[in-house]
Amino acid sequence: MTMGTCSTQAYGEAWYWDKRYAHESGPFDWYQNYSTMAPLINLYLPRSHGHHRILVVGCGNSAFSEEMADDGYAEVVNIDISSVVIEAMQKKHSNRPQLTWTLDSLLCGNNSRLNAGNMLEEVWRVLKDKGVYILITYGAPTYRLHLLRDSCLWTIKLHVIEKLVSGESPEHPIWKLTDPVPLDDDGSSVEAVLGQNPDIHYIYICTKDLSLKAGPKHEVAVE
Ligand SMILES: C[S@@+](CC[C@H](N)C(=O)[O-])C[C@H]1O[C@@H](n2cnc3c(N)ncnc32)[C@H](O)[C@@H]1O
Repeated sequence: MTMGTCSTQAYGEAWYWDKRYAHESGPFDWYQNYSTMAPLINLYLPRSHGHHRILVVGCGNSAFSEEMADDGYAEVVNIDISSVVIEAMQKKHSNRPQLTWTLDSLLCGNNSRLNAGNMLEEVWRVLKDKGVYILITYGAPTYRLHLLRDSCLWTIKLHVIEKLVSGESPEHPIWKLTDPVPLDDDGSSVEAVLGQNPDIHYIYICTKDLSLKAGPKHEVAVE
């Protein structure tokens, strides 16, 4: 993954991604790919438990959705703010009825600028009662957890996965992907288990939980 010379401020701007995708046809997976994430996706969205409608926000030209479809997921809805990438993906996958590609923004409803708070509120609105929001990020819990908790009523589980080296996962992972990492109130338990600054991506599994309304606002599932 290269960050280029552009500031990360432009990452929420359609012009930036249009320009980039006009030159980069892909496929390119940021952070992880479907095969490394599949055990976790299959755990939280088991194909044996009926039909899942999966929304991939900011799909880009990643192969993730097509590999999900090949793995048996029957409805994967992809949205992105870049018309260039959406048109390219529509053409490329016209023979895959499981996949749809739509020019849309997570924030199209209120025209807000993208920031962590309003994005989470919007995800919350989009999720149905039993919806699961899976967020993969380099943001450690000590920094990311309060944003997730303060915005919405959901239980949060944390999983971790090593960053890919030349597209490969390490032979001996730091932590078993499908086991949640113990998560305390401020996220410091994660550092106690995994050490300081491990070279990993954090995967937050957020499950909408309206029952939290009645109890303390900031509740976290601890395994
Ligand atoms: C870092 S790329 C990730 C692409 C792909 N998900 C992957 O993992 O390889 C971010 C993508 O999000 C899209 N994007 C940025 N802001 C968005 C928004 N508000 N709504 C929908 N897509 C957005 C960009 O056009 C870009 O394709």
